[in-house]
Amino acid sequence: MSTTLYDAAKYGDIEVKNRFVMAPMTRSRADMEGVQPDIAATYYAQRATAELIVTEGVAPS
Ligand SMILES: Cc1cc2nc3c(=O)[nH]c(=O)nc-3n(C[C@H](O)[C@H](O)[C@H](O)COP(=O)(O)O)c2cc1C
Repeated sequence: MSTTLYDAAKYGDIEVKNRFVMAPMTRSRADMEGVQPDIAATYYAQRATAELIVTEGVAPS
């Protein structure tokens, strides 16, 4: 039987129920002090049921 995207996997210490991964995307929503607002938590919570999310980076300037 072949592996599908819906099969569980283990990446290092991370166990996932499927193989879908959300790639990091720059959302640039931090405030002038570099703090993420509440909508950032909402954004990731809305997508968390998919499974593994690679979160965005921070761009120092
Ligand atoms: C910190 C970080 C932020 C990223 N932000 C975006 C983004 O805003 N939009 C985008 O299309 N790709 C972004 N990327 C790249 C995507 O995550 C992904 O690697 C890229 O789109 C290539 O995907 P593909 O190999 O499926 O074509 C970002 C990558 C990193 C590491």
